[in-house]
Amino acid sequence: MTEIGDLSATVAIVTGAARGQGAEFARVMCERGASVLLTDLREDEGEASAAALGDRAAFVPHDVADPRAWTTVVAAAEERFGRLTALVNNAGINRPATLPETDDENWSLHLAINQSGPFYGMRAAAPAIERAGGGAIVNICSGSALHGSHRFFAYSATKWALRGMSRAAAVELAPRGIRVNAILPGLVETPMVSEVGFQADAATLAKIPLGRLATPADVARAVAFLVSSESAYLTGAELVVDGGMFA
Ligand SMILES: NC(=O)c1ccc[n+]([C@@H]2O[C@H](COP(=O)([O-])OP(=O)(O)OC[C@H]3O[C@@H](n4cnc5c(N)ncnc54)[C@H](O)[C@@H]3O)[C@@H](O)[C@H]2O)c1
Repeated sequence: MTEIGDLSATVAIVTGAARGQGAEFARVMCERGASVLLTDLREDEGEASAAALGDRAAFVPHDVADPRAWTTVVAAAEERFGRLTALVNNAGINRPATLPETDDENWSLHLAINQSGPFYGMRAAAPAIERAGGGAIVNICSGSALHGSHRFFAYSATKWALRGMSRAAAVELAPRGIRVNAILPGLVETPMVSEVGFQADAATLAKIPLGRLATPADVARAVAFLVSSESAYLTGAELVVDGGMFA
C-alpha cells in the first residue's frame, strides 16, 4: 500500500525552480520520492538547485514564454525519467506598477511569462501526462487574484487570468485523466517578495492572522498534496495558502 505523502510514482516539471518557491517545491517533491525536472532562466542557480537533490532531479534552461521551448522541456522529462505525470507552473515575475505607470513593455512581459507561460505549459504537457496514464497540473496564482492589488496592475491581471485558465483546463482535461488545480499564496518569504518591497514589519504582519509570512515549505506541502493521489477528487479547486490574510 502506498504511504500518505508518497510521490514515488510522480515525474514532475517545476518551472521557475532555480530559487524561491520553485526550488522548494522540487526539494519537497524529491524528498517524497518524486523525480523532478527543474527549469528556469537562471542557469547557474538552477543547476545548483537540481544538483543538491541528487539523481532524481535534473535541470534544463527554459524560458516559459517561448512556446517552442516547451516541446524540448517535455521531451527532456520523458527522456530522462521515462514519463511525465505532473506540471507545476510556478515561474513568474512581478514588476510593480500602478495602472497609469504600466507601459507596454511591463504589460507584455507579465502576460508573456505569467499567463502565456502556463498556457504553453499546459498545452505541451497535457498529451505527455495523458500518455503516462493521467496526472496533475498545479498553477501558482496569487492572493492578488482575490482582490485588487495596489501597484500590481499587470501582475494582478495575469494571476486572475490564470485562475480562469485553471478552471477551464480542469473541465477540459478531466476526461483525459488530468486534474488541474490552483494555489493562491499570500506573502511568501522569497526573493520576489523582498524585491517588490514587502518586509516582515509590524504593519505587514498585522494583516496576516497567523502572524507570519509563509515559508516556501508551507506552499510546497500544498503542491505535494495536489500532485499526489491524496487529492484524487480535487480538480478546478483553489487552495489559498495565506495564513488567513484574505479570509
Ligand atoms: N513570493 C510571494 O509572496 C508570492 C505570492 C503569491 C504568488 N507568488 C508566485 O509564486 C511564483 C514563484 O515566485 P517566487 O516568490 O518564488 O519568486 P522568485 O522570483 O524567487 O522565483 C521566480 C523564478 O521564476 C523564474 N522565472 C522568471 N521568468 C521566467 C521565465 N520567463 N522562464 C522561466 N523562469 C522564469 C525566475 O528566474 C525565478 O527563479 C510566481 O508565480 C509568483 O508570482 C509569489
